[in-house]
Amino acid sequence: MRLIIAVDGPAAAGKGTLAKSLAAALGLPHLDTGLLYRAVARQMILSGLDPACDDGEQTAQALQPEDLLRDDLRVPEIDRGASSIATQPPVRSALLKRQREFATASGAVIDGRDIGTVVFPDADIKFFVTASAGVRALRRYQQLNGSEACDKAVLAALTAEIEARDRKDAERAVSPLRQAEDAVLVETDSMDAEAVLAYALSVVRVRFPS
Ligand code: CDP
Ligand code: CDP
Repeated sequence: MRLIIAVDGPAAAGKGTLAKSLAAALGLPHLDTGLLYRAVARQMILSGLDPACDDGEQTAQALQPEDLLRDDLRVPEIDRGASSIATQPPVRSALLKRQREFATASGAVIDGRDIGTVVFPDADIKFFVTASAGVRALRRYQQLNGSEACDKAVLAALTAEIEARDRKDAERAVSPLRQAEDAVLVETDSMDAEAVLAYALSVVRVRFPS
């Protein structure tokens, strides 16, 4: 079925994990739109530009598919850089076109911040996935370091970084992070990734039985 499913939410909520597994279960392509913003920030830094003050439009227009496949996109400098260039309207416009082209042909599960509000406001189903900042910070820590015990100070610093990025994403003028009115809210503090997938699949099957 040619469905467009939007998955939005704050940092480290499990959007990508849900979108990837949902796409696999439904036989749809998956696009992690955060990688687009991360790849633009990385290219700017490599070119000697500062994502916090330089114009990222040309870099966004020149982005190549292989730029999204780098394994160095998930580092703190790029977390911050992506969030900075994501405030620039021309960067968002350049990336909007790519996101729409990706999903229009065969449907897709797409995760990000503004998929259900701006990129695909008419998506067939929208999920807004969230959890408390402390839980999300621990998830990100374990994703990067395995299940080794996390120092309280390290966790507090990671929580503060995540909260600062969420604030910046939610307070920007263009395409801020927010739950679409018709999105299904999934609060995941006490749900593991399997439980979130099972719930999301049950929503899809109720709305689109076949
Ligand atoms: O894409 P986003 O930044 O929202 O988060 P993610 O990279 O999909 O997930 C962050 C980490 O949380 C991953 O290691 C997941 O396995 C884990 N996790 C999850 O995705 N969902 C849960 N309900 C619990 C943990
Ligand atoms: O995985 P995590 O949730 O930490 O971040 P991400 O989804 O890779 O997104 C990185 C940054 O890109 C976010 O903090 C946003 O500033 C920006 N972004 C956005 O503005 N719009 C999107 N659709 C996706 C990401």
